[in-house]
Amino acid sequence: MHRDIEQILFAEEALQAKVTEMGRAIAVDYQDKNPMLIGVLKGSFIFMADLVRAMDLPCQIEFFGVSSYGNKSETTGAVRITRDLETDIEGRHIIIVEDILDSGLTLNYLMEYFQSRRPASIEICTLLDKPERRRVEILPRYIGFQIPDAFVVGYGLDFAERYRNLPYIGVLKPEVYA
Ligand code: IMP
Repeated sequence: MHRDIEQILFAEEALQAKVTEMGRAIAVDYQDKNPMLIGVLKGSFIFMADLVRAMDLPCQIEFFGVSSYGNKSETTGAVRITRDLETDIEGRHIIIVEDILDSGLTLNYLMEYFQSRRPASIEICTLLDKPERRRVEILPRYIGFQIPDAFVVGYGLDFAERYRNLPYIGVLKPEVYA
């Protein structure tokens, strides 16, 4: 275990099992719909890669970039687009793929942004959910794990651009970000 990690929440095997289950559920729900999965960068890149390999159906994969917290562990509420879509989503079935749902402000912004481009449908798939921290109501159709209010890293999730490559998800020691 990395020395900055206090506790491992989800080991590689647990993540694989859950992500495979989520991919299969999406494949059942979206047969013949050719969904467009839009990953929110950067945190979702590993989740997306594993999720789509568990989905046995034709689908399109896109990425959308928003700014993270920088070097802080709390949201500022402001969302900055760092990479826009390069494709038309009108009439398409959209699934937003997010690593973690915290205050909900990022997804709230993204839902409104994508809705204005008139997709046929739009749903959210998040690997992690911290329900205690929610500030706006967001109802994802697919949730991997609910977690308590702790700052977690690994499997794509970072703190100040570090730890994304850890193969597990763990709680960061508070002294690292204090
Ligand atoms: P929200 O807008 O507060 O829901 O925050 C969503 C974004 O905050 C995620 O996409 C992450 O980039 C970041 N985030 C929230 N909680 C954590 C965490 O525990 N670890 C790493 N990033 C987090």
